[in-house]
Amino acid sequence: MQLLDGKKLAQSIEKDLAMLVSACNDKPSLAVILVGNDPASQTYVNMKKHACERVGMIARLYALSSRTTQVELLRIIESLNNDEDVHGILVQLPLPPHIESNPILEAIAPSKDVDGFSPHNIGRVRANLSAFAPATPLGVMDLLAAYQIKLQGQHCVIVGASNIVGKPLAALMLNANATVTTCHIYTRDLASFTRQADILCVAVGKPNLITADMVKEGAVVVDIGITRLPNGKICGDVDFEAVSPKCSFISPVPGGAGPMTIVSLLQNTFKAYEIQRCIKGSYA
Ligand code: GUN
Repeated sequence: MQLLDGKKLAQSIEKDLAMLVSACNDKPSLAVILVGNDPASQTYVNMKKHACERVGMIARLYALSSRTTQVELLRIIESLNNDEDVHGILVQLPLPPHIESNPILEAIAPSKDVDGFSPHNIGRVRANLSAFAPATPLGVMDLLAAYQIKLQGQHCVIVGASNIVGKPLAALMLNANATVTTCHIYTRDLASFTRQADILCVAVGKPNLITADMVKEGAVVVDIGITRLPNGKICGDVDFEAVSPKCSFISPVPGGAGPMTIVSLLQNTFKAYEIQRCIKGSYA
């Protein structure tokens, strides 16, 4: 069994990105919008901001009151869309219940949509066109590629069908010529699917959902779940102790998919910066 070390890979990608950023005159800049004071969202947003700063990018944090209205948020996005000094825009989800997320995500300019959550980028990812793909699935794909794990013809079973992870990961894996099965809360006999997986990716948020009897001998397991236990520890969806001896590769939690998500956001922000520099003609 070999560990898929997302922490180490993310650090090496960060190092390369920092070199690229240091060669830029104007720095890539990401606007991060947080509405309300959900503690988990605050933690994620701070991690993203610090990661930007580690590689020399600018992170502008908009920490908005939970009473912010839909219209106010739309106005802020519009002004960021028109701000040439902002290359990427991210609205942390979930939004408070009085704000509808779809019109907000649709309002972000596709060229600045570094989370890849707007319908424009969702569609382009599905069609295998150049696009911003969401950070977590991108990070998983990079992690598999770094360990030379091939997807073509492999049966990838994804547990969890969210717009943020499961659905876009299925699209990326299908684009890589895998056979993809997506399971979700209504799937009957989950184990009958997970046992078929050459590559099993789990993004549910339920500790120990995946037990040893649910995994094929020699499978690759990517654990994308994140749950904070009452003792403060972070754990994934896979019973690591029991499952890991059966795997050819397995990603740990923490230190697997999580760090890859953050570094993929940085890569998307750098890509947005380059696209916008190109549009402005400074590549000429
Ligand atoms: N909420 C949970 N994951 C994410 C993410 O990757 N991006 C944003 N914007 N919100 C999230």
